[in-house]
Amino acid sequence: MSEEMVNPQETTVVRGLEGVVAAETDISFVDGVHGDLYYKGYNIHEIADNTISYVEIVYLLLNGDLPTREQLDHLRRAIVTEMRVPTQVIKMMEIMPPSSHPMDVLRTAVSALSHFDPDAFDNSLEANRRKGIRLIAQIPTLVTSLYRIRNNLSILSPDPQLNMAQNILYMFHGSIPDERFYRAMDLLLLLHADHGLNASTFSARVTASTHADMHSAVTSALATLKGPLHGGANERVMKMLMKIKFIEEVEEYIHSMLAQGQRVMGFGHRVYKKEDPRARHLRTISEELCRLNENEQFFEIAHKIEDIVLKAKGIYPNVDFYSAIVQHALGIPPEFYTTLFAASRISGWVSHILDQYANNRLIRPTSKYTGEYNRKFVPIEERTIEPAVS
Ligand code: COA
Repeated sequence: MSEEMVNPQETTVVRGLEGVVAAETDISFVDGVHGDLYYKGYNIHEIADNTISYVEIVYLLLNGDLPTREQLDHLRRAIVTEMRVPTQVIKMMEIMPPSSHPMDVLRTAVSALSHFDPDAFDNSLEANRRKGIRLIAQIPTLVTSLYRIRNNLSILSPDPQLNMAQNILYMFHGSIPDERFYRAMDLLLLLHADHGLNASTFSARVTASTHADMHSAVTSALATLKGPLHGGANERVMKMLMKIKFIEEVEEYIHSMLAQGQRVMGFGHRVYKKEDPRARHLRTISEELCRLNENEQFFEIAHKIEDIVLKAKGIYPNVDFYSAIVQHALGIPPEFYTTLFAASRISGWVSHILDQYANNRLIRPTSKYTGEYNRKFVPIEERTIEPAVS
């Protein structure tokens, strides 16, 4: 071991890599101290209040600047053209057991897409950008097609006249949504597009750092997003809300969860020590949608949970809490919530994978060994089972 090398045996392990700076990026910044989020320098509030549509943000993340009208139209057309997915992949989704979770099917389907990608064997920058745009276009189609398969409905092709948010709702439900609903879907998509070095993005970057291909990196990211401590939280939020029928039950339900040491899904964050800035926008829009759907009680229950958890634990809601209510109001079933998160975060993953390829160094941390040294080999005939210590 050279003198400059750090001996892991003499260092303190940072559990969960909290606070470890593992990459440089100008794609997004999660400012946990001030409770702010920036995409390419734009504060998320500026984006949420002014953005025309999610694809504008896709352009920003991939290119660094907001598009002109012409550039936006060009990207929109490119994405709509790439939304078709190979019939073989649709067939694969059809033969998956109906009991399998949509996130598992999506992970398998994205991995399968790699076999049919026209750029499969090309790892050049141009090919990776094309693959990235194709995935940004295809994941929403996989999600909505799976929903239609699960509900014995015919799969719908995207309408080239519609934007991404409208198309997603159209391909789910078969009708062109009211403006207030597709605007909510747009907001949902653009607020989930990127979030610093979150767990799934880190997974994507680790895989890309080995020079593995774009589809492999995205498959890693999807597998990581699924967990309930990350993207899988939104589905659990709705399951909790569905169990609480009346506002009078909230207090007891939440206090008993906390007393048992359980986590309230959709609360807490590794980086934000103040409110997650995305929750503010989703809270407002979920209240509006609940009112439109004449389901105000649902919003009131959620708001009460927020008050109780804040008072009891000093913890704020994160993006997943109110996103669950927005998705419910848009008629999306809970088991599909995380797949829609993926349908947006794919734009961040692709941007980070391209960033990793452009400035690559293999991501390979080390660990502190806590095992024994120089144990004596015992031939198999002489091995015995140690009696369990009671
Ligand atoms: N409900 C109740 N308590 C929570 C909590 C939650 N959702 N999130 C954190 N806490 C508590 C922990 O129990 C711990 O308390 P303690 O110090 O008394 O033991 C403290 O807050 C710190 O939690 P910790 O697990 O160290 O934070 P973390 O940074 O490792 O975890 C999350 C961050 C997001 C994994 C965590 O907040 C969580 O599990 N949230 C619920 C899942 C979720 O919504 N995930 C989506 C994230 S965007």
